[in-house]
Amino acid sequence: MKILSESTVGTANGKIILIGEHAVVHGMPAIALPFEAAQVTVEIEPKNGETTVESSYFTGKLSEVPATLYNFVEALKAVCKYLNQSYEGLKIKVNSLIPSERGMGSSAAVASALVRSIFSYFNKELTKERLFEFVSISEKIAHGNPSGLDALIVSNDHSYYFIKGETPEKLSIDLPGFLIAADTGFKGQTKEAVSDVGQLLRDSKGKTSELIHSIGRLTKKAKRAIEDKDPRFLGELLTKAHEHLTALTVSSEQLDQLVQVALESGALGAKLTGGGRGGCMIALAEKKDEALKIAEKLEKAGAKQTWIHSLGEDAND
Ligand code: PMV
Repeated sequence: MKILSESTVGTANGKIILIGEHAVVHGMPAIALPFEAAQVTVEIEPKNGETTVESSYFTGKLSEVPATLYNFVEALKAVCKYLNQSYEGLKIKVNSLIPSERGMGSSAAVASALVRSIFSYFNKELTKERLFEFVSISEKIAHGNPSGLDALIVSNDHSYYFIKGETPEKLSIDLPGFLIAADTGFKGQTKEAVSDVGQLLRDSKGKTSELIHSIGRLTKKAKRAIEDKDPRFLGELLTKAHEHLTALTVSSEQLDQLVQVALESGALGAKLTGGGRGGCMIALAEKKDEALKIAEKLEKAGAKQTWIHSLGEDAND
């Protein structure tokens, strides 16, 4: 039996798409990794009456949440139904270090932390497969027709080489390098960007298909660069991927500017990450002091927030 004063916490990491976004929607591979610097926690405690939600952009009754949180509500209801429990009588607090709609997997991470927290609240075991299933329900509502990459990363906390519809391949990333992520401060537009690339593919098939295949080839080479522990080559591939994403119309003025600043500040490579048209970009540096310098330059150039993520156990300062 549940002791009523008990509260539970579920946590989840955000994710970074290293390379392959957009092309992954059209059958090409992508590489993504969990991003521990951007974490979400969901705390649940019992309360009397209707369930309430407390988060940075909505606080109130579950029945009154805005449309942007419908995925959250549906995930909650689906899990409670599966567990044969009521979704009423809960106080749910969402604490997210991930800015929403910035291509860092915020919605998937919130869903993952929520599902973990509910299972733990009702003292139930949660498998990674079940977690992935529930996060996918939430992601389909949030993003329409997602490739499944976000749900995969936030449910497994591992890096993957991913091709839609195929068994994802775990990829160990351990090379001397640091990723700098920077938020433009502008919301990304994943749904619109994905739909526009689809339209571009219908309007000018040859050119668009070549760009998509070219990103696919860059991603395959990036996998090799990771396996060879070669950050310089990886950097070149990232920058090339950004050029292709720009040609696919999914970059933005702010993203291009931050990519430029990163490259001028000595980054080995830089590109947008996620759906684009806003959101975040990433840059690669070999040493931590270089990464810190690049992050500082990005903030001076207008980035709202920056994060640094080591790509290797052995990466030294
Ligand atoms: O903006 P995000 O973090 O949801 O990433 C979108 C990645 C795309 O490849 C553009 C779409 C997808 O579903 O994979």
